[in-house]
Amino acid sequence: MALINLKDLLNHAKENKYAVGAFNVTNLGFIDYLIDAAIEENSPIILQIAEVHFKYMNLEEIVPAMINASKKVGVPICIHLDHGQSLETIVKAIRAGFTSVMFDGSKYPLEENIAITKEAVKIASSVGVSVEGEIGYIGGEVISEDSPTPQSPKKEFFTRVEEAVNFCKETGVDALAIAIGNVHGFYKGKPALDFERLSQIRDAVPVPLVLHGGSGISDEDFKKAVSLGICKINFYTAMSAAAVKRVREYLSENPGVVSYPDVVKKGMEEIKKVVRERLAVFGSSNMCAPEKTICISCSEESCNLVDPKMRPASRTILYGDLVEKISKEVISSFSKNK
Ligand code: 13P
Repeated sequence: MALINLKDLLNHAKENKYAVGAFNVTNLGFIDYLIDAAIEENSPIILQIAEVHFKYMNLEEIVPAMINASKKVGVPICIHLDHGQSLETIVKAIRAGFTSVMFDGSKYPLEENIAITKEAVKIASSVGVSVEGEIGYIGGEVISEDSPTPQSPKKEFFTRVEEAVNFCKETGVDALAIAIGNVHGFYKGKPALDFERLSQIRDAVPVPLVLHGGSGISDEDFKKAVSLGICKINFYTAMSAAAVKRVREYLSENPGVVSYPDVVKKGMEEIKKVVRERLAVFGSSNMCAPEKTICISCSEESCNLVDPKMRPASRTILYGDLVEKISKEVISSFSKNK
């Protein structure tokens, strides 16, 4: 099977100097197109769902569909919760089957962010699920139905090196999202990433680094960011906008069209095209090729190569009652200590 948690996947990316693309899923239709893009690029991929997008789908239905689709293919796939906002959401996501979760406590004061992230790590790690934390504040908007207002990053919210070091040490996160001039949604003007800060954080913290707000960043800057230690890149707004643009073109070229599935297909094909291009730029294309030895947890039927560096524990596990018991205990002890 090709399910993997974030920790094992990003550690491989770190060692092999590439980044894994993390693309937001907002309905069932995305699953096949994103996975097909990864298969065609021979690349690992992260399918993620942001908490702000829960309104579009039922987690209990879509996550099992993502897991089933991932198990059938040879490329490694991580199913990740993006920007989880509370411990309750973290538990809900783990129970739904995510192999990885993000707790985003960046809106809280540092001490509170550390305390809640630490609890998230305690809950998730007990069942082999990885945790991404955020330090500094990325800002901007993860788009939904409205057009987002272009944003400029605020320097005062950039990640501070010492805080990042302390955050990783205190919380035990598996990956760290940092603010270095990146914002969600559209950028006001040209993005200017603080590469000096990125190198300093990379040298100071032990975990793989994550770049949110991929839409609008140039290919050249992506490659530089990857060369300086970015191992996961979140990308959504531009692929959504490209799909809407393609649908508009199709409708104006074919004003008589009444077939909804054909309209949707045009948009989804555009998403697949954008994702394939991003995977190539992030350096993960052909990482599943024999000479790259990244077969991770693919089944032996679909792939005969085994990377000895990847542990069997990278496979996802059954959570059930155990998760519920542990989560209740941790949440109740956390509430008492508050
Ligand atoms: P963009 O929508 O700006 O590409 O950012 C996506 C993201 O970071 C999701 O967490």
